[in-house]
Amino acid sequence: MITLNVELGRRSYPIFIGSGLLGTPDLLTPYLDGRDCLVLSTETVAPVYLEPLRAMLGNSRVETMTLPDGETSKTVGSLESILDFMVEKKYSRDGVVITLGGGVIGDVGGFAAAIYQRGVDFIQVPTTLLAQVDSSVGGKTGVNHPGGKNLIGAFHQPRCVLSDTDTLRTLPDRELSAGLAEIVKYGLIADAGFFSWLEEQAPALLKRDPASLDYAVRRSCEIKARVVAEDETEQGIRAMLNFGHTFGHAIERCMGYGQWLHGEAVAAGMCMAAEFSQRMGWIGAEDIQRIRHLLTRLNLPDQPPALNPGDFMAAMSLDKKVIGGEIRLVLLTGLGSVRVTADYPSHELLDMLSAQFIL
Ligand code: NAD
Ligand code: GLY
Repeated sequence: MITLNVELGRRSYPIFIGSGLLGTPDLLTPYLDGRDCLVLSTETVAPVYLEPLRAMLGNSRVETMTLPDGETSKTVGSLESILDFMVEKKYSRDGVVITLGGGVIGDVGGFAAAIYQRGVDFIQVPTTLLAQVDSSVGGKTGVNHPGGKNLIGAFHQPRCVLSDTDTLRTLPDRELSAGLAEIVKYGLIADAGFFSWLEEQAPALLKRDPASLDYAVRRSCEIKARVVAEDETEQGIRAMLNFGHTFGHAIERCMGYGQWLHGEAVAAGMCMAAEFSQRMGWIGAEDIQRIRHLLTRLNLPDQPPALNPGDFMAAMSLDKKVIGGEIRLVLLTGLGSVRVTADYPSHELLDMLSAQFIL
């Protein structure tokens, strides 16, 4: 097991990463201290991983609540049902919420913990690759609104994150690749050497080689933890973690949520952001070639589906990084470095979208 720390002063916390962590006695004891626990999970994950987790909770009172799988559970309605349950079961302010599953349960459960009695402790036990490298770290919690994804939420850091990489063995292939897209993102934004390592390790990662997956999760979390420690509430550089996401979110919105997985849309979005970076003269054609090639080998799309450029621009303008009507983009200045900027010719963006989209 390796332990990384997210350094946030009084809100600092460890991320435990490794094989066989679920079921390890005493790992969570310091965060529980006999307090009442509520484990939130999903219909697919709970039957496999709830029992080993329960075995770690010692003499705490443990209630469990299971939500249906998928993005449809990330709603105000689900949030309300969790809060109702907590009131009904008389959780007090020293209760602990534990989220067991992917990013959906982590986001909605974390948000419930953020607002129940003005905030209770929570622990993330992520079981998807995407959740282990991204959503469980950094304290963004929330739910969707019919008007947009993640529109309602709060920053609420977990007390600890327990990433048992053995859980990735049961993950469907498509979900594995979606998580790999976010891992490629970390190489592109912060570590060219890690990007090259991913190029070498692509076959091993797809075969779920434990050592390769452990390193990929660890390096991704190191990069994310460093960025979050510098800019917890996204006043500045944390926006770099959204590389590929402005385009990706617009793809998801235009196609209708659930057509492509989030990681798939991010993969195509990263290619679009890379292409725009090339138009700005910041990276070369060979860099884009490497990015496309790696994503394709990881079974991810390297271009968007056929969409209408006007609709796409409208969808991009709903991005949370828009300030004063300007769409801020995260662009590459090389493999391993980015710039967040609204300083680009907007006709270039429209040009690129018109060239890429056939509708
Ligand atoms: P998800 O939570 O829907 O999980 C994907 C699917 O995998 C689900 O059907 C789930 O039941 C199943 N699953 C989970 N673990 C499994 C396992 N070990 N074996 C077999 N099946 C398993 O999706 P996700 O990709 O984990 O997360 C996506 C969500 O995360 C989105 O809502 C996104 O907005 C959010 N997100 C949040 C942040 C953040 O910083 N908070 C960052 C990135 C993404
Ligand atoms: N997933 C982007 C962030 O945590 O900021």
